[in-house]
Amino acid sequence: MNRLDGKVAIISGAARGIGAETARLMVEAGARIIIGDILDERGWETARDIGGDSAVFRHLDVTSEEDWNGAISAAVARWGGLDILVNNAGLFLGKGISISRNASKPPPTTAGRRQSEQPQPCPEPVTDPEETA
Ligand SMILES: NC(=O)c1ccc[n+]([C@@H]2O[C@H](COP(=O)([O-])OP(=O)(O)OC[C@H]3O[C@@H](n4cnc5c(N)ncnc54)[C@H](O)[C@@H]3O)[C@@H](O)[C@H]2O)c1
Repeated sequence: MNRLDGKVAIISGAARGIGAETARLMVEAGARIIIGDILDERGWETARDIGGDSAVFRHLDVTSEEDWNGAISAAVARWGGLDILVNNAGLFLGKGISISRNASKPPPTTAGRRQSEQPQPCPEPVTDPEETA
């Protein structure tokens, strides 16, 4: 028996990156996951990649109380409850710690990051085409 068998989780910011990999590992350990993110198409893709009925995408902007209520309701309606929250969503700007010797140097920016790692604008919500087909 896996340690997360039967557990239901919401992971925010799980369309990609650390959140998506956390979702994958938690499903492997037996959990069922609501993948929450503002990147709808990427979120559905991630849920499909993880596969089975153990991961579903739900639009979740962590600044929206309505979206949180929707994600929690989705977990309860689908799997009967909610056990775990991984509140991972965020922007990592890669800023260094300022030290006085380098005070004249500008701090590192996101300029060197891949396009896919740059903060993304919030797209319009979409539904999973495979679910509506
Ligand atoms: N990668 C690193 O080295 C690092 C270091 C320290 C902390 N972190 C933190 O870890 C978390 C994940 O980092 P990552 O590298 O996977 O970043 P990432 O940019 O690849 O993923 C972050 C996800 O959060 C989502 N997101 C952003 N705003 C959101 C919102 N308002 N509501 C819902 N989702 C939102 C993005 O769409 C994205 O899918 C972030 O909070 C980041 O600040 C990352």
